[in-house]
Amino acid sequence: MRTWTPQKIRALKGVRRFATVTCYDAASAALVEALGPDALPLVLVGDSLGMTMQGRDSTLAVTLDEMVYHTRCVARALRAPFLLADLPFGSYQTCDDDGFRAALRLVKEGGADGVKLEGGERVLPLVRRLVEAGIPVCGHLGLTPQSCLAMGGFKVQGRDPAAAERLLADARHLEAAGCFALVAEGVPAALGARMAKALAIPVIGIGAGAGTDGQILVWQDLLGLTQGRVPRFVRPFAALGEAAKAGLRAYDAAVREGAFPAAAESYE
Ligand code: KIV
Repeated sequence: MRTWTPQKIRALKGVRRFATVTCYDAASAALVEALGPDALPLVLVGDSLGMTMQGRDSTLAVTLDEMVYHTRCVARALRAPFLLADLPFGSYQTCDDDGFRAALRLVKEGGADGVKLEGGERVLPLVRRLVEAGIPVCGHLGLTPQSCLAMGGFKVQGRDPAAAERLLADARHLEAAGCFALVAEGVPAALGARMAKALAIPVIGIGAGAGTDGQILVWQDLLGLTQGRVPRFVRPFAALGEAAKAGLRAYDAAVREGAFPAAAESYE
């Protein structure tokens, strides 16, 4: 078992805010692990990998097999943070049996400690069933990328009072169904704060303002690896993209000039 459990993550509520991050491969997970057990309590293998790793323009095409593969890669390198994996689009919208089997695969084959799924009232029976079976579940409300077709794109949700009340009601229902945490994505800061205040479980925000219990950012956005435009809520905390380009340029120049490899980098 990993060091961080749903109980320990829940216990952070009201004690300290916490940062979490997405991760899709073992090399990146090893970097998280190197921070030590107190740094990041939770790592998410998000279906955002469809965009960050596969170059797609949405998460819709990500398959369960792909989620299992990436979860397994991360699981190999992760010891301390709780490993959460996304149920991808299509793996639980068909029926709860499919969703249950998909979650079992992420846990049994992928090595996930829990699963995340998008939606409110519609997913409550599945959440209850997973929790009863002993699988920790994290909800996801607001700008739910798997609904981008219905939402008309990646748009902030809960701006009008009725929609905000519906999201708050959904959040309460997910908590009552047994979720140990909730991701609130793309909602006004005031609503993010209201959600955190209304629930006893931690609310992890992304584009949900500063009033949530935790934050999550996508690996590439957080480390400055994303080429092109990033959403308003992203702050790059490093400039790895620029560092990588500088390294690639230096390598290219060294090879062209015959400066690489040197004798010390060659075998006798
Ligand atoms: O897929 C993902 O990475 C996510 C986070 C952005 C919360 O759902």
